[in-house]
Amino acid sequence: MRKEQRVIESEIYAVEELDSTYRRLYEAAFEAAGRAYEPYSGFQVGAALLLANGEIVTGSNQENIAYPSGLCAERTALFYAGARYPGVAVQVLAVAAVKDGVRQPGVSPCGACRQVMVETEMRSGAPIRILLCGRESATLFYGISSLLPYCFDSF
Ligand code: THU
Repeated sequence: MRKEQRVIESEIYAVEELDSTYRRLYEAAFEAAGRAYEPYSGFQVGAALLLANGEIVTGSNQENIAYPSGLCAERTALFYAGARYPGVAVQVLAVAAVKDGVRQPGVSPCGACRQVMVETEMRSGAPIRILLCGRESATLFYGISSLLPYCFDSF
C-alpha cells in the first residue's frame, strides 16, 4: 500500500487585481447572470467563456417547470460555444451568481458541468482556466482536474 495525496492549487485575486482579460470575463459573467431564466430558484448564474478565436461566449441558467429539463449557465455557454464554434478551444470559463440582486461569493460549478468541462478539455487537449467570481474576489484554477480529480474520461 502507498498513500497518494493530490494538492489543488488556486490563485485568489481581489477584483482590482484581475488583469484586463479576466476582468472582462468577470464582468461578462455577472452580466450574463442578469439574463438568467430562474423563476423556480431565484438564483441567477452567468458564465462567460473566452475562446481561442478571441470570442467571448456567455450563458445563463435556463430553468423549466419540469426541473431536470433546465440547464446550468456553464453548460448553456459550453454547448453554445460547441455549436457555434466547433473545434475552437475554450481557454477560460468564468462563472458568477446573483441572488436577490446581490452578487454571491464564488459559486462553484455542479458535477454535471464539471464533467462537460472534462470533455471540452479532452476535445482541445488544453486545460481550461476556471475563474470563480465573487463579490470582492475571484479564484482561478488551472484545468478541470483541479475541480474534478479522478474524473471519468475513458472506457
Ligand atoms: N446553477 C447553475 O447554473 N450553475 C451552477 O454552477 C450551479 C447551479 C443553476 C441551476 C439552477 O437553475 C439554479 O442555479 C439553482 O440550482
